[in-house]
Amino acid sequence: AAVEPTELLDLAVDLVRRAAVLVGEQRAAAVASVETKSTPTDPVTAADRASEQLVVEGLAAARPGDLVLGEEGGFRPVGAEAAPDAVRWLLDPIDGTVNFVYGIPAYAVSLAAEVDGVVVAGVVRNVVTGEEWTATRGGGAWRDGVRLNGSAVTALGSALVGTGFGYAAQRRREQAEVLLRLLPEIRDIRRIGSAALDLCAAAEGRLDAFFERGLSPWDRAAGGLIAEEAGLLFTGLHGQPAGDEMTLAAPPALHPALHDALIAAGAQP
Ligand code: IPD
Repeated sequence: AAVEPTELLDLAVDLVRRAAVLVGEQRAAAVASVETKSTPTDPVTAADRASEQLVVEGLAAARPGDLVLGEEGGFRPVGAEAAPDAVRWLLDPIDGTVNFVYGIPAYAVSLAAEVDGVVVAGVVRNVVTGEEWTATRGGGAWRDGVRLNGSAVTALGSALVGTGFGYAAQRRREQAEVLLRLLPEIRDIRRIGSAALDLCAAAEGRLDAFFERGLSPWDRAAGGLIAEEAGLLFTGLHGQPAGDEMTLAAPPALHPALHDALIAAGAQP
C-alpha cells in the first residue's frame, strides 16, 4: 500500500527534533573547528555531519529501503539497498551554516520526503527558537499548530522580499546587479541566511515573497512545500516548477509583479 504523507511527516518531525537538539549541543565544539567546502566562504562543521548521520541512521532504522539526498553525504540508500518503491528524502542537516558559526539565531534542520518525484511531506525546525514549520501535500502548512496563509500584500512597493546568495563569486556579482535594480522598487530586502527559513517566513507572511538563484534541492524541498501549502506559487522564474536555477515563492497576487520586476532587473532564469 502507498505510504501516507502524514506517516512520513511524523518520522521526519521526530528525526528533525533529535537532530536539532544535537546541533544545539555541538555548537561550541563545532565552531572551534570550522572547515570550508565549495569555496572559502562555504563553511561545514562537524555538527553538519553529525546531524546528517543522526537523520540517516534514523531513516535506516525506520525505512531501510529508502534513499537520501543529503547536503553533506550526497545521494545514497539509507540502508544496504534501495527498495523499488523507495521514498527519496532530501536533507539539509544545518541550513544557515554561516549563521550557526556566528551564533546568529537563524539556522535550521530541513527534511522532506519525495514520492515518485513529488515532495509530499516536509519539516523545517529553527534550532535556536524551536519554531517548527510542517506541511503535507494537500494537508496545508502549519507552524506549531497554526495554519499558514502567506502574505496579503499585493503591491510590489509594499513587499518585503527575502533573498540569498550562493557562495560562488560570479553568481554573487550577478545577484548584486539584480538587487541594484530591484531594491528601489520594493519595501526592502532581507537576507536571513537560511533559504529553508526564508521559505517558511514567506509561508507565514513574515516575508511577502522570496527569490534566490542557485538553490540546491535540500535547501528548498521542505520549505517549498510549506510555501506551496500556504497558498504561495513556488516556481522558477517563468512559472515552471522550481528547479536548480531561479526559485520564486510569492502569493498569487504578488507573483506576477515580482516576476516582472526580476525580469526588468536582468535576472537570469
Ligand atoms: C545556504 C543558505 C543560504 C542560501 C545559500 C545556501 P547552507 O545553505 O540556505 O541562505 O543563500 O544558497 O547554500 O550552506 O547554510 O546549508
